[in-house]
Amino acid sequence: MSRLPKRTLGKTNMEVTQLGYGSMGLRGPATWGVRVVDDATADRLLNRILDKGINFIDTSPDYGVSEERIGRFISSRRREYYLATKCGCDYVQHEDHLEVLHTWNKDVLQRNIETSLDRMQTDYIDLLQFHGGDAETIQQAGLIDTLLDFKAQGLIRFIGSSSSMPQLSSMIELDVFDTIQIPYSCLAPKHHDWITKAAKNGAGIIIRGGIAHGGPDAEIDRPALFDVWAQANLDELLSEDMSRSELILRYTISHLHCDTTIVGTCNEEHLDENLKSISRGPLETELYNQITSRVQKVLAAQC
Ligand SMILES: NC(=O)c1ccc[n+]([C@@H]2O[C@H](COP(=O)([O-])OP(=O)(O)OC[C@H]3O[C@@H](n4cnc5c(N)ncnc54)[C@H](OP(=O)(O)O)[C@@H]3O)[C@@H](O)[C@H]2O)c1
Repeated sequence: MSRLPKRTLGKTNMEVTQLGYGSMGLRGPATWGVRVVDDATADRLLNRILDKGINFIDTSPDYGVSEERIGRFISSRRREYYLATKCGCDYVQHEDHLEVLHTWNKDVLQRNIETSLDRMQTDYIDLLQFHGGDAETIQQAGLIDTLLDFKAQGLIRFIGSSSSMPQLSSMIELDVFDTIQIPYSCLAPKHHDWITKAAKNGAGIIIRGGIAHGGPDAEIDRPALFDVWAQANLDELLSEDMSRSELILRYTISHLHCDTTIVGTCNEEHLDENLKSISRGPLETELYNQITSRVQKVLAAQC
C-alpha cells in the first residue's frame, strides 16, 4: 500500500494522493513542443505511477495520444486511479501538428465525452473539467446543465473548471464546481489567494505547474520562471540534502488548500525524486516565509 499523503478532493468523496500525475507530456508525435515520448516509455511511466501509489491522473482530449495511451496501457487497472479529463476541446489534427481550439457548445462537449470514454476504455470519467472558458459564455450556452446531464447519465461523477486569471474569478463565483484546477508555484504565485477563495467555497483544489516546469533544472528553458529563482537567490536557501525541485514542490504542497498537484514528468528518476519530496511533506514555516518574501520582492520589482 502507498504511503503517499492523501486528501479529500473538496466536495467530492475522492481521496486523492497529494502527488497526482499530469499526462500532457504523453501527447506523442505531431502535436507541439520539442519532446516526444514513445509508446514503450508511456506504458512504463503510466504503470510505474500506479505501482508507486499515485491515484489521480489528469488528461485532456487535446493532449494528442495521451488519453489513448491511458486506455491502452492502464485501463486494465482502472480501479486503481481517479481519472480527470476536460471538455470544450475542438482540436484539429494536421499532418505535422495539433491545432488546439476551445469551442463552447453542446456538440463539442458531447463529442469530447464520447471520444474520451472510448479512448480511455472506461465507462465513466471521475472528473470532467471545462478546459478554460469564461463563466458568462459557459452559462449562456447552458453547458453546466450539459455536464450535469452527463452526471445524471452516470458518464461522469464530478464537474470542474481548469482556469486561470482573469477568467478564474468568475468561474469560482459560479459556485457550481466540485473542483478547480489552478496554476501555482513559488516562482509563479499570483493565484495564491484565489486558491484559498475557491477552497473556501468548497471546491477541491488541483494545482498544475506545481513543480514550475522543473524550475532551473528543467530540460526546456523557461526564462521567466528561472529569472525569478535566480533573482530571489533561492539556491541560498537550499540545505545540503534538498534539490531545487524538492523546494519548489514542497512549497506548492505547503499551500493549505493544495489537495493534489498534477506534476507532469516523463522521466522515471524525476518521478522518484518527486515522490520522495512529497513524502517529506510541506516546508518548515521559516523556510516557506523566506521563499515567499524573497519572491514577492522580485515580482514587485518587475511591476
Ligand atoms: N489549461 C489546462 O487545463 C492545463 C494547462 C497546462 C497543464 N495542465 C495539466 O497540468 C499538468 C502539469 O502541467 P505542466 O506540465 O505544464 O507543468 P509542470 O508539472 O510544472 O511541469 C512539467 C515539467 O516539469 C519537469 N519536471 C517534473 N519533475 C521534475 C524534476 N523532479 N526535476 C526536473 N524537472 C522536472 C518535467 O520534465 P521531465 O519530463 O524531464 O521530468 C516537465 O517538463 C499537465 O500534464 C496537464 O495535465 C492543464
